[in-house]
Amino acid sequence: MQPGMLAMWLDRIAFHLSTNRIENILDLGCGTGRFTDPLASRFGATATGVDPSERMLTAARAKEHGPRVSFRKGSAEATPVPDASIDLVFISMAFHHFPDPAKAVRETHRVLRRDGHVFLRNSTAEQRSPYAPFFPGYQEMADQILPTADRIRSAFEKGGFRTTAHELVPHKMAPDWVDLAEKAAVRADSILLRLPDASFAEGIAAMRAQAPSAPDEFVGLNVDLFVFAKT
Ligand SMILES: C[S@@+](CC[C@H](N)C(=O)[O-])C[C@H]1O[C@@H](n2cnc3c(N)ncnc32)[C@H](O)[C@@H]1O
Repeated sequence: MQPGMLAMWLDRIAFHLSTNRIENILDLGCGTGRFTDPLASRFGATATGVDPSERMLTAARAKEHGPRVSFRKGSAEATPVPDASIDLVFISMAFHHFPDPAKAVRETHRVLRRDGHVFLRNSTAEQRSPYAPFFPGYQEMADQILPTADRIRSAFEKGGFRTTAHELVPHKMAPDWVDLAEKAAVRADSILLRLPDASFAEGIAAMRAQAPSAPDEFVGLNVDLFVFAKT
């Protein structure tokens, strides 16, 4: 993540929190745990990262983390956490991977305490990735894979939550286009991964041919942040 981005996301969460008393956090679909330990430190809480991928969990466990942070294998549809034990569920860029979103929402509702909140950070079909103009087929793939903001909101509202906030947060992906091209070349993006190799190669070449950006040009995208309260 670009310098300042992690702190910015933690600030957005703190801004929307109506209480300072957060004891237990669940980072659902934690991946390599880039948010898990920072969430625990920022809110003085325990944080449990849950992910179905052993490879992700191995990377997460290998990162430096405090004694109040742990990682467990599980999924959003079957979360290895007791009923009503969590104050804050954080879901970052994972919702669109859940095979059964309605079941995931029911599980989230089960593990949250009364007055608990879900903070969901995800790209949505309405927002344009800076990759889209360069890679043939990128936007069509994004439209298929990413949920709309309405779909996310209605999944939670049907599952016993109230939407208390929804905002678009500008997320800087790189300092300039040259750097973003090298990031894209690693192909660590679920949409780039699904593109045919020829479209991927065409996009990388087009990005590398792009003129360097002006020093204050924003290279990134708007990411949706939803806050849902358990009712
Ligand atoms: C793009 S990564 C995001 C990781 C992390 N939350 C972050 O923002 O850095 C998506 C993660 O969702 C996980 N995932 C996929 N299916 C899942 C499911 N059914 N339940 C929970 N997590 C899932 C993947 O294993 C992967 O680690």
